[in-house]
Amino acid sequence: MTSVARAWKNGFSEWRESRDRLGVEKRVHFVPTMGALHEGHAALIRTARMNAGKDDEVVVSVYVNPTQFNDAMDFEAYPKTEETDVALALGAGADAVVFPDVEEMYPGGVPDRVETVDFGQLTRLWEAEHRPGHFDGVVAVVRALFREALPSRAYFGEKDWQQLSVIRRLAWTEFPNLEIVPVGTIREEGGLAMSSRNARLSSSGRKRAESIYRGLHEIVRESGEVSVVNAVRSQWELEGMEVEYVAVVDARELTEPWTGQRPGRAIAAVWIEGVRLIDNMPLAPRN
Ligand code: PAJ
Repeated sequence: MTSVARAWKNGFSEWRESRDRLGVEKRVHFVPTMGALHEGHAALIRTARMNAGKDDEVVVSVYVNPTQFNDAMDFEAYPKTEETDVALALGAGADAVVFPDVEEMYPGGVPDRVETVDFGQLTRLWEAEHRPGHFDGVVAVVRALFREALPSRAYFGEKDWQQLSVIRRLAWTEFPNLEIVPVGTIREEGGLAMSSRNARLSSSGRKRAESIYRGLHEIVRESGEVSVVNAVRSQWELEGMEVEYVAVVDARELTEPWTGQRPGRAIAAVWIEGVRLIDNMPLAPRN
């Protein structure tokens, strides 16, 4: 099959028709994305490929979801690279790349507001606090994607730790037969977590951004000591970054303080050159 035959530009309906013609029910291993694919996305697709049986299907979706952008400029600036996305996804082992139709995601068109999601602190703290409405949009679109793709497993990056936690909660409440598979963060050589937003940084900005990795690493090495968290924040500010938050939290609930009895997570959001970057790292329980 050619790559064109495996990319469904007219949405899930077209993809489903082709499956129906084949007449076999394949289990779907699903990787939702917003495109501008890089090695981080490729890691998700490769993991899906490894997990998938030979009769299963690895499906990647590409949809830049307007309702999760709390900043219209950020949405407008989001890169659109359809052809290279298809090539990268197929190269990493995808069987199908689906470009959902707007009507499939939002029947009647993209609404001005989507339903508010209340998953307790998970949808109040950190990213939720600093990007109002963001997770409402993520949940709305991921719910629609799951309903269209009907996956048995879906793959999400630890890079977006809070998003992963929110999606786990969504699956737990609404898609009980779906398994959410986490995939570790893929980084550039200097430690910067890969993100399509990195392309907006100058080369010196990228270099400076590496200290996010170093700072989180130091926090982990010092077992989440509050004084170290404060020192890292000051260091970042000294280097000209605007720190939205840096904290050590319970890995599952995202709450402070981390007691050390369960897995923890060092999380951060900073601005460099007008670009917002997030990252996180795991902390093992103290015994
Ligand atoms: P997007 O930012 O395109 O990311 C798609 C998936 O790739 C997410 O699960 C994200 O965590 C993962 N990812 C991104 N960079 C990564 C990296 N460096 N290492 C590992 N995984 C990485 O996240 C979204 O899109 C959207 O919110 C979406 C879930 C598709 C809903 O619109």
